[in-house]
Amino acid sequence: MDNQHIIVRVATQDDKKFSSIIVDEMESSAKARGTGIAKRSPDYISLKIDEGKAVIAVTDKGEWVGFCYIETWSHGEYVANSGLIVSPQFRKSGVAKTIKHKIFNLSREKYPEAKIFGLTTGLAVMKINSDLGYEPVTYSELTQDEAFWAGCKSCVNYEILMSKERKNCMCTAMLYDPKDHYEPEETKEFFADNAPIFERLLRFKQWKLLKPFLKKDKDKDKAKSGGVRPKSLLHYLFHL
Ligand SMILES: CC(C)(COP(=O)(O)OP(=O)(O)OC[C@H]1O[C@@H](n2cnc3c(N)ncnc32)[C@H](O)[C@@H]1OP(=O)(O)O)[C@@H](O)C(=O)NCCC(=O)NCCS
Repeated sequence: MDNQHIIVRVATQDDKKFSSIIVDEMESSAKARGTGIAKRSPDYISLKIDEGKAVIAVTDKGEWVGFCYIETWSHGEYVANSGLIVSPQFRKSGVAKTIKHKIFNLSREKYPEAKIFGLTTGLAVMKINSDLGYEPVTYSELTQDEAFWAGCKSCVNYEILMSKERKNCMCTAMLYDPKDHYEPEETKEFFADNAPIFERLLRFKQWKLLKPFLKKDKDKDKAKSGGVRPKSLLHYLFHL
């Protein structure tokens, strides 16, 4: 990566050649992290490029570095900036941050009235979103478009999402509402003040949500014997 200049721009026809590499990297990164992912095909990546709804990062030597795309839901009321991915050898040098800024501005230009949202399991993306003015929200504040949630079917955590009646899952939801939002300085400061808490919450959430599935058989036996546990306070507060 030394001495390479990285260009972040709206993707063009010529970038379709990277579609397969992008999809493969999305999948292998999700596997490496042990998290879920809404799977996308190379054709879908190419479609996003055709629509002018994708941002790509490449080196000046023509090597693929990173990618992200726009999706619209609920007839354009909501926009998601999805599929953020940076090639492993280019991580931790600010590429994701630049891509997210670019795709956020593109989304604002194309859909100035739309609420922009994202779902993430990672602290890095929470930080980048906070820098842009997003705030954490409950799933009920996101699009209820069936087509959006259908995208989660290919995620390994889909069973968890459905067991929580689509009110919660491993991902944290964040939203930027153009009509009602904090200033980026405020959300940035809020994240900085609370980052250790967010980190612990993400870990706790994963443990709490996965637990019933890891102990499924045990619980099934318990149910058979008539044992019913009272719901915790966290269940009522955070749908955990
Ligand atoms: C998540 C990902 C996109 C980050 O890309 P990146 O180019 O390394 O991120 P950046 O260098 O722009 O870092 C952005 C910020 O997050 C921080 N950060 C980066 N990786 C981090 C990590 N693993 N944990 C906590 N913070 C992290 C950086 O320090 C930086 O903060 P700063 O502004 O204070 O410097 C990249 O690791 C990736 O592609 N992961 C696999 C796919 C994925 O998780 N996508 C997100 C789906 S929602």
